[in-house]
Amino acid sequence: MNSVLQVEGGHPLHGSITVRGAKNFVPKAMVASLLGDSPSKLGNVPLIRDVDVVSDLLDLHGVVIDFDQNRGTMTLDPRNVKVASRSDIDSLGGASRIPILFCGPLLHQLGEAFIPELGGCNIGGRPIDFHLETLRNFGAVVDKRPDGIHITKPAEGLRGAVIELPFPSVGATEQTLLTAVRADGITILSGAAIEPEIMDLINVLQKMGAIISVDTDRTIRIEGVEKLSGFNHVALPDRIEAASWGAAALATRGDIYVLGAHQPDMTTFLNTYRKVGGAFDIDAEGIRFYHPGGQLKSIALETAVHPGFMTDWQQPLVIALTQAQGLSIVHETVYENRFGFTQALRQMGANIQVYRECLGGTPCRFGQRNFFHSAVISGPTPLEAADITVPDLRGGFSHLIAALAASGTSKVSGIDVISRGYEHFTRKLHQLDARVKYVDQ
Ligand code: EPZ
Repeated sequence: MNSVLQVEGGHPLHGSITVRGAKNFVPKAMVASLLGDSPSKLGNVPLIRDVDVVSDLLDLHGVVIDFDQNRGTMTLDPRNVKVASRSDIDSLGGASRIPILFCGPLLHQLGEAFIPELGGCNIGGRPIDFHLETLRNFGAVVDKRPDGIHITKPAEGLRGAVIELPFPSVGATEQTLLTAVRADGITILSGAAIEPEIMDLINVLQKMGAIISVDTDRTIRIEGVEKLSGFNHVALPDRIEAASWGAAALATRGDIYVLGAHQPDMTTFLNTYRKVGGAFDIDAEGIRFYHPGGQLKSIALETAVHPGFMTDWQQPLVIALTQAQGLSIVHETVYENRFGFTQALRQMGANIQVYRECLGGTPCRFGQRNFFHSAVISGPTPLEAADITVPDLRGGFSHLIAALAASGTSKVSGIDVISRGYEHFTRKLHQLDARVKYVDQ
């Protein structure tokens, strides 16, 4: 699990790659299948570690999964769902954050759920207080024990709730949706996340028989129903992967056609891409991202919840900003500790300084709490090859881009983390004429 990729940098990436279903949607749709009383079918499923982990967890709970990896089609049969042993669930602990979303469906189906140690990238505290509070609001009994969190359904069943999120949390919104659809009565969720991945999960639940409406003020209303059937759905494409390759084209002065990239989900990214000096052509099947020549321009950027600039888009784009003329500012308002990846970039010659203050836009939750959540990037600075280690998923992809943009040959360790969210990424790099190969430690 600690493979090393040797990267010969300084060559533009050129060619075409395909992006399939969104990493931050597909596993949630798989969990939703637990709520149905008949099998579900999911299309455009990518071959990534997060899908593997959730497949293993569902298998532990008796769901029969058939996955055609080439066609990307998966069937999930939940008709024999059963309680899984704690030790088995624990064996998968630490691999993903998705297990927490099993709670609602398992409470409805089995009356109990167990949350193991959660995984996910080290980009902030990753609290789950909103999730646990939401489950309590539905009437669930949440018992924190040394071996994990045990949750049980009250005898009278789960009832609709009024839930107000202090922050538009994607996970807590999904937690509410997956619990409310079969709760008794109406649930009103205010301050909800409305990311495209959330809207596609609502599409799936509606196909299953749920009654869900989304108001213009981020309020979601769910009318609980007695039963849900299986769904047949094709996942929306991964806008984070598409943007990551777009950023790679900019940083390496290349030209990449991303088959599957979907403009409506990427509007804010495309506006920023253009302001930095990148160019793109959009057609019905995908988007061509390219460096049109000339000098890239520095910008002031603030990440935000949808429809703002997505937090997962900033790491890959920062590499292009190291090549832009002038000072760029990035104010990260979703996660408190998402600039750890800049350490390796400084090692390669980038001029990046991180600050505790909210730089650029509006004051955010982290401004007075001693978190280095703003960055100033001064460019252009030539990047030199270095031996670096991948810190997390999106930071890891930005390290890959930096090595591809740098002059010389780098060794990137811990590269397997990237397969959590980027399907066949080394195959795609070869398709783009990148000079990369696996080497011994
Ligand atoms: C999802 O994480 C995504 N992961 C993240 O992508 C993405 O960056 C994030 O949403 C925001 O869009 C998956 O979908 C698997 P959150 P999630 O709950 O659900 C606060 C990637 O690389 N918070 O919206 O964990 C806390 O400040 C990953 O693909 C609480 O305070 O995100 C947190 O920083 C990285 N208490 C912020 O919300 C809670 O109980 C955002 O969290 C929950 C959240």
